Amino acid sequence: MAQEFFWGASTSSHQIEGGNENNWTQWEKENAERLAEEEKKNVKFWDETRLEGQYPENYISGKATDHLHRFEEDIRLIKELNLSAYRFSVEWSRIEPEKGVFNEEAIDFYYKIVRVLKTYNIEPFVTLWHFTLPIWFEEMGGFKNPKAHQYFGRFVKIVVERLKADVKYWITINEPEVYSLESYFLGKWPPQKKGIYNFWRVLNNLVNVHKKAYGIIKKIDPKAQVGIAKNNTYFEAYKNKFINRVLKKLADRYCNDYFLMKIKDHQDFIGLNYYFHNRIDGWFNQNENRVVSDLGWELYPKGIYYVLNDLKKYQKPIYITENGLADKKDAHRAWYIKEILKNVKRARNEGVDVRGYFHWSLLDNFEWSNGFWPRFGLIEVDYKTLKRTIRKSAREFSKIIAESDKMILKDKK
Ligand code: FCB
Repeated sequence: MAQEFFWGASTSSHQIEGGNENNWTQWEKENAERLAEEEKKNVKFWDETRLEGQYPENYISGKATDHLHRFEEDIRLIKELNLSAYRFSVEWSRIEPEKGVFNEEAIDFYYKIVRVLKTYNIEPFVTLWHFTLPIWFEEMGGFKNPKAHQYFGRFVKIVVERLKADVKYWITINEPEVYSLESYFLGKWPPQKKGIYNFWRVLNNLVNVHKKAYGIIKKIDPKAQVGIAKNNTYFEAYKNKFINRVLKKLADRYCNDYFLMKIKDHQDFIGLNYYFHNRIDGWFNQNENRVVSDLGWELYPKGIYYVLNDLKKYQKPIYITENGLADKKDAHRAWYIKEILKNVKRARNEGVDVRGYFHWSLLDNFEWSNGFWPRFGLIEVDYKTLKRTIRKSAREFSKIIAESDKMILKDKK
């Protein structure tokens, strides 16, 4: 039988659920005014797509998409789109609101989600940590604390024990470099620390956190498949010039390979989050930026082919755990997905073991320090009424899935 290929969409708890109390909700309240002011200064032209960004409410996650109360409707929409898998995260701050105190009701919420998914025959991919922290844990230094793995491990054990019957695929942590960079180097995200020392310490602590969590999950369920979601960038040495090649090597090594090498004996698959192309010409990111998303990110579908090829060396199955774009007018999404999938197919035909594609995101959601204005959803959310509307591009994606044999699985040599 041919290897199953999962078609999915991704979300994370804080970005969709609503009603959270964690380090982000605290930070949002303290920073919303500032972020709105900064946006006013940054956006020099009249841009309708990001108008909401000029108001402080845009930066307060609040009830978000209210997925907390609408998860059944959202799962029905996953089914309607023909998807066979769904990646979501569990919210540590709700499951363990106080150190060592676990909230049964919160765990039950995720139990219900996986049960409903299973009844629809949708495979759950569960992320155990996607950027937000319980307040007590942040106060202890968060992932900078050398004992972080013990606290995280205790939480992981409780969640995995409860959900193991229905969950085979676990993602321990999401994008360790993005988190360490934004929160501990650039000082843009909570706790807004800066500097290379903080960055390095957190990143390496996350290596340890992952390894320990890996061991805990495998002990509970030896058949579980465990990995991380890793953001890799396509670094292109422009015109193959010597200096560009040297810079590419360095960037590949530290941004793409460092973490994966460190955990290479502690992962069963690689989760790839692909968003960025970085053209190196004497320096980084000299992109022509011909087609960009609403966030100004270059849309470069070819890059995923190179990134996938590069991951072949790890000899592990690969799931594309995120890929997508902010596109309020839905002008590029269908094109982008199709082009991405062509490149995935090309990589598969050349022997890269890609076993799934998850679009970011199922729903419009709270895009961290940019707030609500960037629209990443296959499904549009009206934040006033919370009404969901399937975008046209999502219907096309759905058609591709129905013809998936043609698009992805055939032609394999
Ligand atoms: C990734 C994050 C995800 C979302 C997308 C746009 O870096 O994992 O939560 O914000 O970017």
